[in-house]
Amino acid sequence: MTDNRPTIVLGVTGCIAAYKAAELARTLMRADMRVKVVMTEAAQHFVGAATFRALTGEPVATTLWDDQASARVFHVSLAEEADVMVIAPATANTLAKLASGRADDLLSTTALATEAPLVIAPAMNVHMWRDEATRTNVETLRSRRAIVVEPESGELACGEVGEGRLADVETIATAVIAEARRTRDLEGVGVLVTAGGTQEPIDAVRFIGNRGSGKTGFAIAEEAARRGARVTLVAGPTELPDPFGVATVRVTTAAEMRDAVLGAYADADVVVASAAVADFRPKAASEAKIKKADGLASIELERTSDILAELGEDRGLRMLVGFAAETGDPVPSAQEKLERKGLDVVVANDVSVPGLGFASDRNRVTLVWHDRVENLHEMGKKQLARELWDRFAKRARAAHEERTHR
Ligand code: CTP
Repeated sequence: MTDNRPTIVLGVTGCIAAYKAAELARTLMRADMRVKVVMTEAAQHFVGAATFRALTGEPVATTLWDDQASARVFHVSLAEEADVMVIAPATANTLAKLASGRADDLLSTTALATEAPLVIAPAMNVHMWRDEATRTNVETLRSRRAIVVEPESGELACGEVGEGRLADVETIATAVIAEARRTRDLEGVGVLVTAGGTQEPIDAVRFIGNRGSGKTGFAIAEEAARRGARVTLVAGPTELPDPFGVATVRVTTAAEMRDAVLGAYADADVVVASAAVADFRPKAASEAKIKKADGLASIELERTSDILAELGEDRGLRMLVGFAAETGDPVPSAQEKLERKGLDVVVANDVSVPGLGFASDRNRVTLVWHDRVENLHEMGKKQLARELWDRFAKRARAAHEERTHR
């Protein structure tokens, strides 16, 4: 049986409030979350791993070096599995490590490696909490979209009174659950995604291809499925495995992609066309391999059909999202595509930036809407998929509702 519960990675650091993490684990499990605990060395002085093991029914991860539960590197597998990571309690030292990107134990390594939303509930002495260094660290983490559940005021373990006491367990759980559930905002919505590049044959062994890797489109399809959408992914050749919970159709050429897309279009409320579809193909592909002795001075090309433009002509109430990969300022040509293809929004990126875009795991894009242009900061492709659906979900749901109630 597949476990559909969201996975929460709960990081526990060394602080007198560590015992409250046990109550947090229970609260999250009662809300039907799967909880996996990571403890720092210091945390184990305050509460034992056995407590969490018994409560969660899962192995408790404590070091980078002991991975009996899985053959994969622990911090990577936990980082990938997490739908939300929460660190409660988080000490001043942990905040400093997270803010500076240090990764010297399993917890900090997992926090750095994960692309899941991060919820942090600090607990410390009032003077440490008020210290300029801690303030700066908290602000840095917030600017990177960490959700900081502020400590409360009250009597502290050191005997002083002031803010620094770990927030109420219910408050922390609410923040975590909201992050985990935010993800069901596409329930029932029909999503069609195209991804990867296409290959247009020249002969039996050669083709014209491009550098589309499919990573962005696969991440977009997977994230939509995680948020409850019914997802079809039409993918050009790529090594990437089928995303979990997504109906994946593998194609090779632009013509095959067009057929697969048209076949799935009726059921789609939203189309996200991230594929790098070849604009031209050899007019006559040779069935046999062309021998070099026979020579090949030129290849005659013809246009492929523009799939997205074709969809735009019969869009009905659907939401259509296009992509534009450009070298140089992508906005003017994205605006032109937006109009010409009848789209709601274009995700534009400048692929000439070294280390970003094609085949890379990171991207920096600009969203070009009819009434505004929105620049997103550089981020991993999985996070980008989340940020895109955060912005598209409302319009996508509306398209779904209008289409089903007609
Ligand atoms: N697209 C498509 N079918 C094609 C070509 C492109 O569906 N045959 C889609 C892509 O998936 C992408 C958008 O259209 O969403 C890209 O538009 P396109 O006009 O192909 O842009 P480029 O070819 O990159 O740019 P230009 O036309 O400016 O050369």
